[in-house]
Amino acid sequence: MSNDAVVLTSVTKTYGAGDHAVTALGGVSLTLPAGTFTAIMGPSGSGKSTLLQCAAGLDRPDSGSVVLGGTELTGLSETALTLLRRDRIGFVFQQFNLLPMLTAEQNVMLPLRLAGRKPAREAVREALGRVGLADRAHHRPSEMSGGQQQRVALARALITRPDVLFGDEPTGALDSSTGREVLGLLRSLVDRAGQTVVMVTHDPVAASFADRVVFLADGRLSGELVRPTAQEIAERMTMLEEIPC
Ligand SMILES: Nc1ncnc2c1ncn2[C@@H]1O[C@H](COP(=O)(O)OP(=O)(O)OP(=O)(O)O)[C@@H](O)[C@H]1O
Ligand SMILES: [Mg+2]
Repeated sequence: MSNDAVVLTSVTKTYGAGDHAVTALGGVSLTLPAGTFTAIMGPSGSGKSTLLQCAAGLDRPDSGSVVLGGTELTGLSETALTLLRRDRIGFVFQQFNLLPMLTAEQNVMLPLRLAGRKPAREAVREALGRVGLADRAHHRPSEMSGGQQQRVALARALITRPDVLFGDEPTGALDSSTGREVLGLLRSLVDRAGQTVVMVTHDPVAASFADRVVFLADGRLSGELVRPTAQEIAERMTMLEEIPC
């Protein structure tokens, strides 16, 4: 079994057709080793969300290949892809996407319920414990801070023990100190539990929590930095944003 969590090879994706066609990804090849934390950065519209969605099986590339934990996604039926997403992928979004009427515990249980599995209360408690919210099990989203809500979303994404946890600007709606708490949590999931994490972010400080920062520009990879400082990342981003379209 390969130790790569995700392998993208020559992935392309175009939206629309004819004069309106937009090439979101123009041939991206990228390997994400298991147990690592990768940040994806790039100017607005450079294809970051599209890349993440193709890697997570939420969207299908036009060409190229995506292999997740040894399984080739391209060519899978819709049903097989749905099952794979449900069992092997965790996804967190900028807006936490919790169900407002459900408690933290019920939100975390949801993926298991949807999978027709009987949620073990212990597993749900453990998932909430891992994100430091064991004492908030019965609170509803409106009774929690933004950071706490995102931590519930993380517990919900982790309850199925996914191969890969994807985040599209998971700290984008949080103030910087709350964002840092969530980033510290992601970092410790990688360091302590060997979780693979891939996160899109605009924030150089957020990206500096990652092992590797990959830069996209205009739908193509445009270099990477290993264990960079926030300052180094900010400098690289300034260069990318100065490239004329
Ligand atoms: N569903 C869609 N239909 C048409 N065009 C799309 C669609 N989704 C994305 N695009 C286009 O594809 C390109 C890449 O979009 P994407 O959302 O991946 O960028 P991004 O790097 O995540 O940007 P941002 O930082 O603003 O979130 C953009 O030009 C965008 O307008
Ligand atoms: Mg985006």
